[in-house]
Amino acid sequence: MIGSVNTDLVVFTERMAEAGETLAAQDFALLPGGKGANQAVAACRLGGDVALVGRVGDDAFGALARAALVGIDLGGLRTTPGVPSGVASIVVDRSGENRILVVGGANLCVEVADIPDLTGAALVVLQLEIPVETVYNAIGMALAAGVRVVLNPAPAVALDMARLRGVSYLVPNRLELGLLTGRPTRTSDEIVAASRRLLRAGIGAVIVTLGADGAMLVTMHRVAHVEAPVMQVVDTTGAGDAFIGCFAQSLVETGDEDAALACAVRYASMSVAVRGAQASYSTRAAFQPHNPDTGANPKSL
Ligand code: RIB
Repeated sequence: MIGSVNTDLVVFTERMAEAGETLAAQDFALLPGGKGANQAVAACRLGGDVALVGRVGDDAFGALARAALVGIDLGGLRTTPGVPSGVASIVVDRSGENRILVVGGANLCVEVADIPDLTGAALVVLQLEIPVETVYNAIGMALAAGVRVVLNPAPAVALDMARLRGVSYLVPNRLELGLLTGRPTRTSDEIVAASRRLLRAGIGAVIVTLGADGAMLVTMHRVAHVEAPVMQVVDTTGAGDAFIGCFAQSLVETGDEDAALACAVRYASMSVAVRGAQASYSTRAAFQPHNPDTGANPKSL
């Protein structure tokens, strides 16, 4: 994993405040987060052999975030003096929906020179909370080393599609897919059409995460949809990261993208029943990733 490490400052409230309104909220928590760290933790809890490349600052939040990454190879997680660690201000309402503002801090210092030799890695997973130029270069280095790449284009920023050519799996949510392609993404047909635009630009497969509607895998030849189990939603923060961490780990372990897709939908769904991002990710023992009795089956469309 090459990506961001944050501390999440989370306020739990009945409802979001309007502009100019002050509201009394119910609860507050300081929790480990960051899309890169979250995805690494999910894969690690599921038994993956995970290394994380990134940066934190030389401050209390950096120490806190680092301490949460138990079991992950942190040889590539540098501490940058004089720069604050990444933080995210998150508000979660009664329905479990969230609004997130991220201050990148040390994450914005992750540079090409930080990327180690990727030869021999089973998979490289990236997101967009580090400089996009570093992401482009990491993709190039992974492909040159013959390593497959999973890219989560979140948060959505303008991307040069030519520099994503060769990415094996692009994993946006519905909103990010729309922003990336400039196409509508309300219906299944629209999602497939928008995804195929990305495939024509050289992406191997697009997986669109759809929240309570599960996820859809789109290639040039097929479409598979996995529905999500119905859950009591407490907090959706980091559910997309749970999905990607689980998908990556399951793909490496089984080599079966349909099994990985089904597993990731179930894992992400479980995460919304618990507060926080990393705090909500089950261990392998609690999850039983490849139990055929509990896995959702992809439905071909
Ligand atoms: O995807 C959720 C994550 O986004 C949070 O943990 C927050 O840190 C931001 O990076």
